[in-house]
Amino acid sequence: GAAELGPYRHYMQKEIFEQPRAIADTLEGVISIMPELFGDGAYKVFKQIDSVLILACGTSYYAGLTAKYWIESIAKIPVNVEIASEYRYRESVPNPNALVVTISQSGETADTLAALKHARSLGMLHTLTVCNVATSAMVRECALSYITHAGVEVGVASTKAFTTQLAALFLLALSLAQSKGRLSETEEAEHIRALRHLPVAISAVLALEPQIISWAEEFARKENALFLGRGLHYPIALEGALKLKEISYIHAEAYPAGELKHGPLALVTKEMPVVTVAPNDTLIEKLKSNMQEVRARGGELYVFADADSRITSSEGVHVIRLPEHYGQLSPILHVVPLQLLAYHTALARGTDVDKPRNLAKSVTVE
Ligand code: G6P
Repeated sequence: GAAELGPYRHYMQKEIFEQPRAIADTLEGVISIMPELFGDGAYKVFKQIDSVLILACGTSYYAGLTAKYWIESIAKIPVNVEIASEYRYRESVPNPNALVVTISQSGETADTLAALKHARSLGMLHTLTVCNVATSAMVRECALSYITHAGVEVGVASTKAFTTQLAALFLLALSLAQSKGRLSETEEAEHIRALRHLPVAISAVLALEPQIISWAEEFARKENALFLGRGLHYPIALEGALKLKEISYIHAEAYPAGELKHGPLALVTKEMPVVTVAPNDTLIEKLKSNMQEVRARGGELYVFADADSRITSSEGVHVIRLPEHYGQLSPILHVVPLQLLAYHTALARGTDVDKPRNLAKSVTVE
């Protein structure tokens, strides 16, 4: 009811603004990295496994895609990420030494549960879930687990569940690295410090809401949008496009920016807003040349830069700057303005933000 919403107009907005608290709760008590964060016996399993298979749907799948970058770069363990509904019906090559990781807000998604059972039936018995509901079927079915503490998520479009999943998955990457002897104490301390700073950092990003509202008024008049990111931020571009589609009904697609020239560039006109996730990482120079390709075709760029990315506003290039540069944790910060952009665009279009047409919060049947 209205009382629960407090100053917010919708649950989605409330849940976006709850993210500093949700992340703090999810990381509460984490003062050092240890596999046991994921349950008793995790160290033995983590030491033994030689690859990771992530299974999930929807927004949780995009958290999995992000985790692949972290686990491969930090723990040096190969990762496959599969959409649960595809994996369960595909003839795949099972690896009994893989760690099977399911990611699910509800812990009740039928396809993800079935994919887990399928993996187990193929002899993959090392299972772990990152889940927001401690009493769910998913947690019961998996040997190891990390419970995110996002709290109840009401909005159909997932927000705080996603960023808390990312925090948990970052811990997983660090714990795997440590089990394999690939995390020094200095690195561990540095990562813990960065994780603990997240709530403050997210609050600073939320303060950009007024700037994002002015962009949303432009987006509300469009029928298509393109989201670009590279590397770690490609999954964030995918999640930004999904949010916009789900609640504003604007057709949105995401591409890794390097693929632009292999197709989507044909769509770019001055009617096409192009959202660019542009933190100052090693790919920034490449991203800038992708942005020029868009400008050369008249596309309007809406760039989410950070404190260190040297990108300035100019004709057709709008820039909102996140107040810090967050290194490897940057995806957790960069998704927040995309959530706000989708929310305010939907608000401007007058859609039913918390209950978008044709969608359900939890898909418990196939
Ligand atoms: C539905 C929801 C999405 C969610 C997906 C997976 O489609 O609308 O927000 O990402 O299911 O749900 P899960 O609970 O498994 O994360």
